[in-house]
Amino acid sequence: MESIILIGFMGAGKTTISREVANLLNCQRVDMDDVLVERIGSISQYFEKHGEASFRQHETELLKEAITQKSVIATGGGVIMQEENQQVLADKKVIYLKADPEILIDRIRNDEENIRPNASNKDDSEIKHLFYSRERYYEQLAKITVDTTHRCPKEIAQEIIQHLA
Ligand code: S3P
Repeated sequence: MESIILIGFMGAGKTTISREVANLLNCQRVDMDDVLVERIGSISQYFEKHGEASFRQHETELLKEAITQKSVIATGGGVIMQEENQQVLADKKVIYLKADPEILIDRIRNDEENIRPNASNKDDSEIKHLFYSRERYYEQLAKITVDTTHRCPKEIAQEIIQHLA
């Protein structure tokens, strides 16, 4: 099996949907943010101490490792911004989980488990601006785009499996 990579903005549901897809395919799953937390500790504290550029280096290194593991990979929302990552993802099974920015912002604000440094310090219009600055990269890198607005994770996972079949 080739790795399946889920991309999309913060709050798109990459973690939840990666679980569903990995269950349906009975395969391994890598949640990049979880692995990064094991390696570098809290992402928001890491951003504060070492800056985003250093975080991105760890993220790129992990992406290159994860891609070799034949698994469903939940990426972090900013992974598509590094040119090196874009090259790694260019010929892979990349799935874009798309949602309206208003919905993404709601999900981000209501998520008490994940403190996201690229959202917690921003107001809604700044988050939208970040979303629009990234949108074309998600779209360009995706082989399949799935709309997640108003749909449950199981339905979305099944649609992904159908596309892959
Ligand atoms: C980030 C998204 C986060 C995490 C980090 C940076 C971003 O992942 O990698 O906080 O810049 O969009 P999620 O998309 O899983 O929230």
